[in-house]
Amino acid sequence: MKFRSFPAAGALFGISILFIFSISTCFLCACQIQKPEEPDKIYAGVTYYNQSDTFLNELNSSFKEQLKSFANDDLEVSVTIRDAAGSQRIQNDRVRELIDMGCNVLCVNLVDRADPSEIIDLAKEHDVPIIFFNREPVAEDLMQWDKLYYVGAEAKESGIIQGEMAVDVIRADFNRIDRSKDGKIQYVVLEGEAGHQDSIVRTENAVDTLKNNGIKLEKLSYQIANWNRAQAQNRMEQMIVQYPNKIELVLANNDDMALGARDAYEKRNLTESALPVFFGIDGTDVGLEAVMDSRLSGTVYNDKEGQAAAMAKLAVALISGKGMKEIKFTNDKYIYLPYSRVSEENVKKFLK
Ligand code: BGC
Repeated sequence: MKFRSFPAAGALFGISILFIFSISTCFLCACQIQKPEEPDKIYAGVTYYNQSDTFLNELNSSFKEQLKSFANDDLEVSVTIRDAAGSQRIQNDRVRELIDMGCNVLCVNLVDRADPSEIIDLAKEHDVPIIFFNREPVAEDLMQWDKLYYVGAEAKESGIIQGEMAVDVIRADFNRIDRSKDGKIQYVVLEGEAGHQDSIVRTENAVDTLKNNGIKLEKLSYQIANWNRAQAQNRMEQMIVQYPNKIELVLANNDDMALGARDAYEKRNLTESALPVFFGIDGTDVGLEAVMDSRLSGTVYNDKEGQAAAMAKLAVALISGKGMKEIKFTNDKYIYLPYSRVSEENVKKFLK
C-alpha cells in the first residue's frame, strides 16, 4: 500500500506544480495582453490635391499646429505634408511614400473624390487608418473599411447662409444694387471644380434662398473657375465684356474666386457705384480682410480651425485608442463642422 502510495503522491505533486505553473503563466500572459501598449509616436502623413489652394494651405497649417500641441515627454508627434499636384496617380504614389516612411495615420484630401480605391487598399494592407478631409468620398467607399473617416462641412448650409447674407444686403440697398432699375437682380456665378461636393450644392442653395425670400433674379451666366483667383479673374473679364454694365451680383463658391472677380473690375478702374456686390465662402485671411474693407459684401466662415482640431483629435484617438467615445460622429464616420456668416459687423471676431 505504502509502496504504491508514494509514486501516486509524487505524480499528484507534479501535476499540481504543473497546474500552478501554467495558471501563473497564463495570468502573466493575460496581464501582458491586457495592458495596451502606449504609442510613443504619432506620425501623420497628409496629402492634399493642390498646393495652390488658399483654404487648404490655411487648414493644413492649423492641423500641423494643433496636432503638435498633443506632443509631450512620452509622445512624439510629427506631420509630413505632400502635394498631389492635381493628379490622383501622383497622390496614390505620395500615399505609398508616406506609408513607407512609417506614417501611422493618414489625412487625405483626395484629388478625385470618386477614386480613393487604391489609397484605401494601401492603407488596409498596412493597417493605417485614413481621415479624409474637405473632399468627401462617396459613402460606399467610406464603408469599405472600419478605419476610414471624413472631416468636413455640409455644403448646403454654406449655400443657404450665403443666400441669406445676399438677401439682407440687397434688401437694405436695393435701389443702388439694382442699377438697371428693372426690379430684378442680374447675377453671375463663379463655381468651383465640377464634381466637387461643394460646387453645385452651394450655388443651388444660395440662389434658392434668394428666390425664396422674394428677390427677383435674372441669371446672366455661370463659369467654372476651379476655386482659383486667377481663373476667376479671367472668366469675369469675359463676362464683363459679354454683359457690359449689366452684372449686379456675383455669387462665388469661395473667397478666392470672389476676389478674382473683384480683381477683374479693379483692373478696369471703375467707380464703386458701377460695381456689382460680391459674396464668397471660406473666410480665408484674404477673404476676411476683403470683408473688413468692404471689397466683399460678405463671406461664410468655413471653420478650418474646427476641422483641423477634429482631425488632430481623431488622429490621436485612432492611434492611442483613447478618446474615441468623446468624439461626436454622424453615421459613425463623419464629423461636420458648422459654417457661420461673416459680415462687416462681425468680421473682427474672425480675424486672428
Ligand atoms: C473650399 C474651397 C477649396 C476647396 C478645395 C472648399 O470647401 O471652400 O476654398 O478650394 O474646398 O477642395
